[in-house]
Amino acid sequence: MIDLNTLKLKVKEQLPTKRYDHTLGVVTTSIELANRYQAPVESVQIAALLHDIAKYVPNDRLKELLEQANETQYLTYSPLVWHAPAGAIVAKKDYQIEDLEILNAIKYHTTGKAAMTTLEKIVFLADYIEPGRSQPGVERIRQLATEDLNVAVAQTLSDTVAYLGAKGNGDIHPDTLAAYEYYRQYL
Ligand SMILES: [Fe+2]
Ligand SMILES: [Fe+2]
Repeated sequence: MIDLNTLKLKVKEQLPTKRYDHTLGVVTTSIELANRYQAPVESVQIAALLHDIAKYVPNDRLKELLEQANETQYLTYSPLVWHAPAGAIVAKKDYQIEDLEILNAIKYHTTGKAAMTTLEKIVFLADYIEPGRSQPGVERIRQLATEDLNVAVAQTLSDTVAYLGAKGNGDIHPDTLAAYEYYRQYL
């Protein structure tokens, strides 16, 4: 049984204030979404609290963690994605999280993937729309999030693919493309 307050304090020690504030925003938004879309609130909170736990781990250490876990396919894509699968590894190793759905919600919070569980969709979406976010289009997705989880996820992926395509540095991770192909049916 995990004590959420203890977990919160541990996470706070690992993150700069700005990233911890973002994390708390993701927790709040995730709880709202969990209540709206009938997801287990405790699991959602744990996944949201830990989702960026590896965000400030240096790239060479992230690389090491991914290599040890046989997740080397990530290494050919942007290092910005590495903290997500590495975060799932850290959550298991340092925070004793065994629940595969929580670990996968952490692992896929940046890329998304096709056919996500409700918990995975919630953390993915909350990361994009928590109150501290201000990217173009976020208001529309906040509104969609109150109406239909799949449509909101689809719009997030559509905006993300468009943004990454326009930025044009490096390939978009295949999980993101597969997620977009899967969820675009809801647009
Ligand atoms: Fe992240
Ligand atoms: Fe995040």
